[in-house]
This record gives sequence, structure tokens and C-alpha cells, in this order.
Amino acid sequence: MAVGIFDSGLGGLTVLDAVAKRLPDVPLVYFGDNANAPYGVRDADDIYDLTTKACARMFEAGCDLVILACNTASAAALRRMQENWVPTDKRVLGVFVPLIEALTERQWGDNSPPREVAVKHVALFATPATVASRAFQRELAFRAIGVDVEAQACGGVVDAIEEGDMILAEALVRSHVDALKRKMPKPEAAILGCTHYPLMDEVFQDALGADVAVYSQANLVAASLEDYLKRRPEMIGPGTESMFLTTGDPMKVSNRATQFLRRKITFAAA
Ligand code: DGL
Repeated sequence: MAVGIFDSGLGGLTVLDAVAKRLPDVPLVYFGDNANAPYGVRDADDIYDLTTKACARMFEAGCDLVILACNTASAAALRRMQENWVPTDKRVLGVFVPLIEALTERQWGDNSPPREVAVKHVALFATPATVASRAFQRELAFRAIGVDVEAQACGGVVDAIEEGDMILAEALVRSHVDALKRKMPKPEAAILGCTHYPLMDEVFQDALGADVAVYSQANLVAASLEDYLKRRPEMIGPGTESMFLTTGDPMKVSNRATQFLRRKITFAAA
């Protein structure tokens, strides 16, 4: 039994950590495509090719279900993968929907028509590719009406986090929040639409102000996965071993991961 968790790099560890806490008995195969991060500045074909390659490796490692813990891949590649590529006995799911269901006060899989919701002004922080895809606005439009979304492409933040340069990451987050506030001075809610950003969540909250509700994905995705596996227990694949795979330098990636999760993480070469 193993479930795959994929990210372009280290950001998906925020999701892995929440899933591991909620489902301690499920073996997890993490794949970080660190050699090719960041995805946020790549085009959709490139993101599709890299993401399918990583998923194939996770299927090989015994996963029948893979969570794309990467908004960029979820936004730019997931739909095409589900339509043309995912084998019928496998599933690949993204991280957008649980977040939007939380924002729009919906239960899992509630597909009723769009309706008015409490929040009216939402700031979206994401990578340039996620912002360009407009996938967030599309999913939101299926569920809510009258919500004004202002998106801020946060160039450079993922690179700084991958390099472990948290001082640069903080400076960039503050400047992206300032840029957003010039376009939308009073957001009621902010979406951290990149799984790397929870590693900077305190900076986002501080820069936005205490009255802005900040939504990040890790716990929402973990809760939604638990719910899914209750309904589809057969999707816990045949793999029995938890592992961390990277296309990058395993030593360097292990050190950064250990620093982020504050527990020993050992990556192997994918
Ligand atoms: N954590 C990925 C996401 O959620 C980062 C994408 C990137 O590599 O730029 O979008």
C-alpha cells in the first residue's frame, strides 16, 4: 500500500507532512523533481512531460494513486493527463479542489450550482504558470458567484526556497504582497496557491495583516485524501515502503528537507 506525493521540489513536503500525521499507517512515496524546479516558469508542454515522467516512476514504486502536491502541475498538466494519459487502474489527483471547496464552504464533491459565498475579495499568490493558467478562477467559477480574485505571480520565491535562501524568499514575499495590495487594498482571504509557500506562511500573514484569512493547502489536502481513501480503499496501491525520491542531488535535497520538516529525511536518486 503506497500513495505517491509529487512536487517539482521541496514544497510538496508541506503536504506530505500533513498526510503523514493524518494517515500514519499509509506508506508514502515522495517524488521531488528538484533537478527541474522551478516549474512555474516552464511552458505547459514541458510541465506535462516532466509530470508524467515522475508519475510513471511513482506507479513503478507501487503507487496506484498520486497526488500532484504542486499547483503548477495541477494547473498546467492534470486535466490533459486525466484525459489522455493516466492508466485506467491508476488515479492522479490535484490540490486545487480541496482548497476551493474550503473557501466556498462546500463538502467534498458537492457539485451543486455556483452560489454566493461569504468572501468577496480574494488574493491568490501562485507561480507565474499557475496564474497564467487561470485554473483557480475556472474552478472557483464552478462553485461561487460574485468573488473578485486578484492574482499575484510570485516570481523567484520557489527558487529562493529551493536554494535555502530564506532571507531572499522573505524579501520577495513582502514585495509580492505589496504589489498585490496596490491592486486589491483589502483582501478578506488569501490563497497560498503554491505548496512551497506554507514554508513562508508567517511572512505572508504578517505582510497581509492579522485580519486576512490565509488558506494553505497541506491540511485541506490531507483531510480530503483521508476522505477519498475511506471511500476508495483499493486505491492504496501495492507498495509497502515509504521513500523519498529526487532527480536532484540526494544529499543536498535531504539536508534542505530535514531543515524544513525538522526531522531526518533521506532522499534517494529517482
Ligand atoms: N510547489 C509548486 C507549486 O505548488 C512549485 C512550482 C514550481 O516549481 O515553480 O506550484
